[in-house]
Amino acid sequence: MNKTWLVTGTHTGFGKQLAIKLAQQKNVNLVATSRKPGQLDYLDQYDHGQIIKVILDVTNHSQVIDAVNSAMDHFKQIDVLVNNAGIGYFGTFEESAIDEAKYMFDVNVWGLVDMTRQVLPIMRKQKSGAIVNFSSIGGLYSFPTLSFYHGTKYAVEGITDSIRKEVEGLGIKTMLVEPSGFRTDWAGRSSHKTLPTHEDYEQFVEFINQNATGAHHEPGDPQKAAEIIIDQVVNNFDNLPMHLPLGKTSSNLAIKKYEELLKEFKDLRKISLSADQPE
Ligand SMILES: NC(=O)c1ccc[n+]([C@@H]2O[C@H](COP(=O)([O-])OP(=O)(O)OC[C@H]3O[C@@H](n4cnc5c(N)ncnc54)[C@H](OP(=O)(O)O)[C@@H]3O)[C@@H](O)[C@H]2O)c1
Repeated sequence: MNKTWLVTGTHTGFGKQLAIKLAQQKNVNLVATSRKPGQLDYLDQYDHGQIIKVILDVTNHSQVIDAVNSAMDHFKQIDVLVNNAGIGYFGTFEESAIDEAKYMFDVNVWGLVDMTRQVLPIMRKQKSGAIVNFSSIGGLYSFPTLSFYHGTKYAVEGITDSIRKEVEGLGIKTMLVEPSGFRTDWAGRSSHKTLPTHEDYEQFVEFINQNATGAHHEPGDPQKAAEIIIDQVVNNFDNLPMHLPLGKTSSNLAIKKYEELLKEFKDLRKISLSADQPE
């Protein structure tokens, strides 16, 4: 029987590459989503009745409900939900525009939450499914000028990890995707920037500008990422990794972060234990 994948944000980037690969897979139904009509015409050449295109802004609750209902009306099940839609924002913690930061939380966190809460009851009824949540290496490792972006992705990590412990006994798998720099629209049009003006933060102007000019020159290949993600879900479902770092920088920084944390926790062990009441 065909497996149905619902992927958010398939206009460009990882989402588009996932949609193209899924559209060419045997035994796959695809619910591809975009914010505006006409953005998914690239899928028409692969469509033989196994694809539906749905308008979905993940911050719009009625569109979230409609997207899930459309998937169920057409394909009667949702086997894999990929919460891919996401944006970035660069600015120092003090000088970031708080409205931009809050909107990014609406997309990256609350949109993902809304989608997942609509789909989980379906997967529980099916007693099977996979939730693939796009985090980032920025969900594990932090850089200056990305405090709010990190906030969104660390939130995705924590939420997903907790969901996993609630549903793993119900036949539902979860996987966090943690890419480093990939050649998508993320660092360009999908990330607004506020350049620091305070002299104490002037060294970060260059960092932000470099990220903007480096857009579309990143080492990561989103086509390869799409292949890896699909391969993991299709061929490694029983042992689906909880975390999937993608790209050399991601792998290096994930290992560095956890080695440093482990050392710090071990160094502090005596002090940590001393904080409990005597047994
Ligand atoms: N590229 C990287 O280096 C990198 C690294 C780590 C993590 N990520 C994560 O990867 C995911 C995908 O981003 P990408 O790199 O593929 O960038 P992208 O090319 O900019 O794609 C982002 C997609 O999300 C969609 N989107 C934005 N806001 C949305 C909303 N409110 N509702 C629904 N869709 C929305 C965009 O739609 P429109 O076309 O309409 O704007 C676009 O299709 C994000 O979660 C991002 O944080 C990216």
